[in-house]
Amino acid sequence: MSTPSFLPYGRHQIDEDDIAAVAAVLRSNSLTGGPLVSQFETAFAHRLTAPYAVSCANGTAALHLAAMALGLGPGDIAIVPSLTFLATASAPFYVGADVVFADVDPDTGLMTTKSLEDAIVRAQGRAKAVFPVHLNGGCVDLTAISNIATKHGLAIVDDACHAVGASMNGQAIGNGENTDMSVFSLHPVKTIAMGEGGVITTASPILAERLARFRNHGMVRDPALFTQTDEAFDANGQPNPWYYEMLEPGFNYRASEIHCALGLSQLGKLDAFLARRRELAGLYDQALAHLGPLLRPIPRVQGCNGGWHLYPVLIDFAAANLSRADLMAALHNANIGTQVHYLPVHRQPFWRSRQPDLHLPGADAYYARCLSLPLFPAMTDADINHVATILTSLIGQRPQ
Ligand SMILES: Cc1ncc(COP(=O)(O)O)c(C=O)c1O
Repeated sequence: MSTPSFLPYGRHQIDEDDIAAVAAVLRSNSLTGGPLVSQFETAFAHRLTAPYAVSCANGTAALHLAAMALGLGPGDIAIVPSLTFLATASAPFYVGADVVFADVDPDTGLMTTKSLEDAIVRAQGRAKAVFPVHLNGGCVDLTAISNIATKHGLAIVDDACHAVGASMNGQAIGNGENTDMSVFSLHPVKTIAMGEGGVITTASPILAERLARFRNHGMVRDPALFTQTDEAFDANGQPNPWYYEMLEPGFNYRASEIHCALGLSQLGKLDAFLARRRELAGLYDQALAHLGPLLRPIPRVQGCNGGWHLYPVLIDFAAANLSRADLMAALHNANIGTQVHYLPVHRQPFWRSRQPDLHLPGADAYYARCLSLPLFPAMTDADINHVATILTSLIGQRPQ
């Protein structure tokens, strides 16, 4: 059997029509601020059955904009699960709010109602928002989370950066229900790629307006909203054509026409990408089944049709008599890339220095065992078998 070329843990898939879509923008008159931004937003909202979608520069900017749009600030606390990428916790911090980390289920890595309730107690009445994360493209139970959030007056921003196209009980993640805003990343390693890109979906026209305004320096161009009438209007009451106002400062977090052209083109392939990712995940499940209980796939959440951004497994390294670093190195030597998602964020030096005594056993137990195997739509069935064969040889059990 020939050894496949290096399999990274994740990879974008760009076809000739994606390249043509980007090239057409490069030949056009507008590289930014043109029609493709709203075309992409409309298509994204339509695919997720969300009332509004606001595009921006990346998923981190999307989280920051969401924290700003909620009006979080000093004195407030945002609850963030510790098993996530750095950006989920950094976003509320950018606006001056503090973070209380919630524990997660040790097997799925997802925030639970119990871990949320524990975090609310630790926030001592200052919690204003919760940022649940659809880790690996799985689904947090937003219905249950929103019942608790409503009881305690918390806003919800679900971090769906891993979950573009995922659904729970037939409802798209990010459709605007049971949440205030859902945040997506279109970084190349995610389900669809914009190069760098982010989207926030919401059912609220007020939040959508705030997001779009903060994305563009806080600028207001709608004459109905102008406050300085002597500056804004001429003697006949007509708005001056050059005039705009800033009521609160924002950022330049816009996505360009180039990025939105790629996003629009890739969005057309989302369902095909998801179908292949789900098929590959099923093949992994079968090919790795004989390695249990040393190596197990992440348990599925009932009702979740996942986005499969990643295919992580849980490995009992002590029982396998192998360290994670040694396993990763041996897999790398066999042309197989892997990654760990994630070191719990509360264990990062910055957060540890602020909350030195925090102990989250679920996050620690998940982290100790997780390893993401290669998953991307262009993988072949043979690639999956190759990974399974090498893992079998390294972990020491043979297919039955
Ligand atoms: C869970 C999660 N949230 C937020 C982000 C930030 O997205 P971006 O890289 O597009 O800024 C990422 C990116 O890896 C992520 O995995």
